[in-house]
Amino acid sequence: MVASYGAKLLLLIALLRCGAKLGADALSMDYYMMSCPFMDQMVRSTVYQALRRDPTLAAALLRLHFHDCFVQGCDASVLIDSTEDNTAEKDSPANLSLRGYEVIDRAKQLIEDQCPGVVSCADIVAMAARDAVFWAGGPFYEIPKGRKDGRRSKIEDTVNLPAPTLNVTVLVKMFGQHGFDAQELVALSGAHTLGAASCASFKNRLSNFDSDNGVDPTLDTDMARTLWRACTAGDGSRVPFDRSSYTFDSGYFNALRRGLGLLSSDQALFADPRTRPVVNAYAMNDAMFFLDFQQAILKMGLLDVKEAGRGEVRRDCRRVN
Ligand code: HEM
Repeated sequence: MVASYGAKLLLLIALLRCGAKLGADALSMDYYMMSCPFMDQMVRSTVYQALRRDPTLAAALLRLHFHDCFVQGCDASVLIDSTEDNTAEKDSPANLSLRGYEVIDRAKQLIEDQCPGVVSCADIVAMAARDAVFWAGGPFYEIPKGRKDGRRSKIEDTVNLPAPTLNVTVLVKMFGQHGFDAQELVALSGAHTLGAASCASFKNRLSNFDSDNGVDPTLDTDMARTLWRACTAGDGSRVPFDRSSYTFDSGYFNALRRGLGLLSSDQALFADPRTRPVVNAYAMNDAMFFLDFQQAILKMGLLDVKEAGRGEVRRDCRRVN
């Protein structure tokens, strides 16, 4: 098992080193080599400075990438502001707690000053997520670049984002529509090793809570009390997914094994026989989780990418040109 994972990793690195084009034909590792050679460093240092000020932004940047790619593909449509005649994706209930837009704006501004009109916002979002994972202690993966920015951002398109109350059957189907299998679903859900959720996202789990005795037959007692206390403080009150919510590690999977998953959709991954073996494997083997995560997130970053002709390079990430 270890040898086969080592071999897979070496193959992946070799492919990436020689500028392999992964899936989307026009993308490449060295896409901006001539037109904007220092853009990678500009994104990396912008993310680094942002995380030094506020480590919770690592989670925010990773989630931004996910919510971008699952709706209309990785085209930065999630960054577009609503206008008088259009309610954009970012104003949908599923996206209201997204954060990190200002980090993307800062990186874009730096890059525009050096190489105007060259680097897409979609590439910046993908790179910022990559750097956030790395600075939080996760794997480093190189990504192919050359995505173009979309011109459409509509609230109704966000119905494709998964809700925290979904069971594994629906999650498998939903992720399957984007080309991911059950193992990749679990690997990507491992992103919940970073960050937190608000009471609004997990209060459904407290429906059996007996507030007189502080117990819930369906939940670990301490967990039930923590969630209850958080929700007494209001729907916006936040609880971390695991005990090391600033660090990218396998703590999330260990939490699931102890019944401490925060969202119903998290704990469902351990309850269901199709996904439980993968949760167990990742909990016991960081290296396996890291490798599967980086392969799955690379794949996610290629979802329905727009190449020249179907998109543009936005000058301001919040507005179409
Ligand atoms: C499997 C289906 C998934 C569901 C149902 C789901 C749902 C959620 C919900 C409800 C929240 C909390 C929102 C809030 O209350 O503020 C959240 C947070 C988060 N999600 Fe997911 N998510 C899923 C998959 C993913 C994937 C695939 C990624 C990234 C690759 C991801 C990254 C994150 C991160 C990093 C946070 C924490 C954000 C922060 O602390 O600001 N999620 N997710």
